Amino acid sequence: MHILLVASAFNSLTQRVHAELRDRGHTVAVELALGDGSLTDSVRRHAPQLVIAPMLKTAIPREVWSAYPCLIVHPGPVGDRGPSSLDWAIQEGAESWGVTVLQAEEEMDAGAVWASVACPLPPLSKSELYRNEIADAALAAVLLAVGRFASGTYTPLAQEQETAHTRPYLDQDVRRIDWDADSTHTVVRKLRAADSQPGVLDVLLGEEWYLHGGHPEGGLCGAPGQLLATRAGAVCRATRDGAVWIPELRRRRAPGGPPTFKLPAVRALGDGLPPLPELPAPPDAEWRTWTDIRYREEGSVGFLSFSFPGGAMSTSQCRRLLDAYRKACARPTSVLVLGGQRDFFSNGIHLNVIEAAEDPAAEAWANINAIDDLVEAVLTTTDRLVVAAPAGNAAAGGVMLALAADEVWCRAGCVLNPHYRLMGLYGSEYWTYTLPRRLGAAAADRLMREALPMSAVSARSLGLVDRVVDCGPQDFAGEVGRLAARLASLSGTRSRIAAKKADLDRQEASEPLSAFRERELARMHRIFHDPQAPYHALRRAFVRKEKPSCTPPHLALPTGPRTAGEPVRPQ
Ligand code: COA
Repeated sequence: MHILLVASAFNSLTQRVHAELRDRGHTVAVELALGDGSLTDSVRRHAPQLVIAPMLKTAIPREVWSAYPCLIVHPGPVGDRGPSSLDWAIQEGAESWGVTVLQAEEEMDAGAVWASVACPLPPLSKSELYRNEIADAALAAVLLAVGRFASGTYTPLAQEQETAHTRPYLDQDVRRIDWDADSTHTVVRKLRAADSQPGVLDVLLGEEWYLHGGHPEGGLCGAPGQLLATRAGAVCRATRDGAVWIPELRRRRAPGGPPTFKLPAVRALGDGLPPLPELPAPPDAEWRTWTDIRYREEGSVGFLSFSFPGGAMSTSQCRRLLDAYRKACARPTSVLVLGGQRDFFSNGIHLNVIEAAEDPAAEAWANINAIDDLVEAVLTTTDRLVVAAPAGNAAAGGVMLALAADEVWCRAGCVLNPHYRLMGLYGSEYWTYTLPRRLGAAAADRLMREALPMSAVSARSLGLVDRVVDCGPQDFAGEVGRLAARLASLSGTRSRIAAKKADLDRQEASEPLSAFRERELARMHRIFHDPQAPYHALRRAFVRKEKPSCTPPHLALPTGPRTAGEPVRPQ
């Protein structure tokens, strides 16, 4: 079927729908709804058999829905309506939720129901739920709806208008935290309902900030609202009955001023931050406190998990992770699993921190070297097997970090973006070594140029990943644990480890890894220091979330099913 995706942005869910529809043999194109009145003509040009809107913040024009079948993905159960569906669910402590696929009509979210799928709603941030539990339910509902539509015989069910409930936009008055009155539980719930966007507007050290992210602290306490400590760039703030860790802040935009963007909290507050104790949590910390890097062992398997907001890895995050990696490698294990908990694996270097730096070129250079050092440590580990286990999405250098491991095991719902072109970067992280090693030079080159998202299943059929773990987000860590224990127990694992050193020696003798790094970094250095390089404007636009002026041509072009090694592009 020729399906057109209409979306406010090519966000993670739209990317997943795009990738998974292609996997199922459909031809897919994208048009962004940019609010400039061009959507009707664009849809006509595509003449799709079906329009699907995975994430749309505006209404589909009557000219479109009256001429083409249009299905809207609503992140809520049947009867739930409004623009802040998931925010309300989390704010009110719902334990289960759902996704409904509706026929577009005049009134938003009021159309007939093509499919609805329920999902659990564990106590986590909105964006993490959106990329995982909600995305899984959305995909199931979209595939059900597409199948029903294709059958030609299914009649969507009209909604019972009497039981429908439209909730308003969840605004900052409702989100506001009362530090004197709210418990840690309430504060964390409010922070989660607003994470990653729009954050909770608050006053901190006399200035207005949006608070992004929130994790309960098990031990510290103080006067409500007081800042107590820092850890890994986050600040700890006292509540009425405990404390919360807040990883990121965004300054409130001044009237007429430039857009502001999120930064690690300590970096955002800068000199304004009073002296506070830095309380690092050891990577093997108990779960009762927050930390972004953890290590644990089960038998002869080590698990090094990490979780950075937005999957972005700044210079200091890369260095801390490298430090933890080296410590993990000093342990007597035969298999080391990287990642494997929930959500993002990595999205590469931290573009926001680079953008905010006094010298962005110097910061980008430090960041790319820090992530390269980490990748190098993985590539040169010869005394154990390393498994990268992306539980969630990965992009650019974050995908390449995974490819440095001996095996890559992805959760089935992962979306991978193994390319750098859209950020105007050549890329590093030893990709010129690892990508052709897995795919061959021609396919590696195609992926880089194509610059499209791919599903875990597609990545496996291309040879980019080794295993797809088909389970829900909450079960992934357990599944990976079982698989890793089995890997450690296999008789062949000893001989694979023994062969690693010989393989690396052979590689170093024919073309040392440092040569790949030097060539990549020479290109990156030129880009970072060339003020005319498109990367600077692309980075600025990405960080400030500027709308593109039109749909990027590589998305608007209909793209056919991906077959192993050969992305198909119908004309
Ligand atoms: N640096 C800083 N922030 C990043 C980031 C990075 N490398 N990658 C992602 N983020 C942020 C996004 O801005 C987004 O912020 P928000 O939650 O406040 O909106 C958040 O992380 C989640 O990202 P995601 O849900 O993946 O966004 P998306 O679905 O709209 O887009 C990608 C997915 C991967 C295409 C997009 O995030 C991307 O292009 N990332 C940059 C990859 C890159 O070029 N890295 C640098 C080279 S190594």
